[in-house]
Amino acid sequence: MEKTIVVTGGAGFIGSNFIYYMLNKHPYYKIICVDCLTYAGNLSTLKKALENPNFRFEKLNICDYEGIKKLFKEAKPDIVVNFAAESHVDRSIKTPEIFVDTNIKGTQNLMDVCRELEIPRFHQVSTDEVYGDLPLDRPDLFFTEKTPIHASSPYSASKAGADLLVLAYHRTYNFPATISRCSNNYGPYHFPEKLIPLMIINALHNKPLPVYGDGLNVRDWLYVEDHCKAIDMIIHDEHLGEVYNVGGHNEMSNIDIVKLILKKLKKPESLITFVEDRKGHDRRYAIDPTKIKEQLGWYPETKFADGIEKTIKWYLAHEDWWKEIISGDYKNYYEKMYGAK
Ligand code: NAD
Ligand code: DAU
Repeated sequence: MEKTIVVTGGAGFIGSNFIYYMLNKHPYYKIICVDCLTYAGNLSTLKKALENPNFRFEKLNICDYEGIKKLFKEAKPDIVVNFAAESHVDRSIKTPEIFVDTNIKGTQNLMDVCRELEIPRFHQVSTDEVYGDLPLDRPDLFFTEKTPIHASSPYSASKAGADLLVLAYHRTYNFPATISRCSNNYGPYHFPEKLIPLMIINALHNKPLPVYGDGLNVRDWLYVEDHCKAIDMIIHDEHLGEVYNVGGHNEMSNIDIVKLILKKLKKPESLITFVEDRKGHDRRYAIDPTKIKEQLGWYPETKFADGIEKTIKWYLAHEDWWKEIISGDYKNYYEKMYGAK
């Protein structure tokens, strides 16, 4: 059956991967990307999608009530999937306000419009960071959906705030929403301020690889396509008010990731530079994905060894994409595409 899906934040890393995944998996669906193109939004990422008649891009801020309402009234989406967010922990430590505005108020604004227009389904893309962190010496502990919210950074606190609002809207207004809380993603179109793409690109330039603190912090890495698959399964399931943890059972320390990247690129470990630690740095994330596995049959398909290989190859084959980001030229792409219209 044909559906219209609004994907907010679709010019970013995971949202763009989700758009390509959905256009391929559901060729009869109409996909509308809503994105205001912050520094993290790159319209050139969606170049191929823009050639597809079932896809359309709307430059809009999720905090813009009138703009969102006008669009949703006209497009009548069946589902809204909210990826739009300020997503980088380091930036949230420097400028928390924008995280509150976009991540909390923007989510509230989207939900208010959805309620008014009776949009049948809303999905909030959240993060395992809302649970805080786990100790390194307790490998038996994992985040489950029942783990208390205990955010550490302004970023994770803003995502936790949004999650609480989504659950409160569900309980108070019977708002038809679901939430997924995923671990660290990696793969194509990952903005080069985040660990894996930054380290690949610095290594290619023989530049120092800045590792925070002792480098022993652990993340649970998931190939981005597996995350997209999980969201596709959740939004096609009828259970509402549910939270699903999504993760790969693939815990790796930062230093091991960095060394692996250097080895694959045949670069020396002398490029590794230990730098001052991130303030409030979470030690370990680890997801227990039992619920989504048992209820929806989801499991991570891509093994880390294959995923990292594909990712490094992608960055080697798409120099144009990341070089435009480094030079700042990517910001002109919207003007080039839509400037005269
Ligand atoms: P990203 O920073 O790469 O992309 C965010 C996108 O949102 C950008 O295109 C940006 O232009 C857009 N955006 C920001 N503010 C906006 C606003 N006010 N209105 C409209 N668009 C706006 O982020 P990402 O890594 O793709 O993460 C996407 C979502 O997934 C976020 O909600 C994040 O919290 C969540 N998440 C990310 C990860 C991860 O590993 N990257 C893991 C779990 C959850
Ligand atoms: O767990 C999910 C989260 O994963 C998402 O909610 C966030 O949006 C996403 O950005 C990511 O957060 P992290 O803070 O874990 O990702 P980041 O790539 O910034 O850092 C990964 C680890 O690497 C972390 O322990 C900090 C460290 N790091 C990061 C950078 C950028 C370094 O040591 N050096 C660096 O230069």
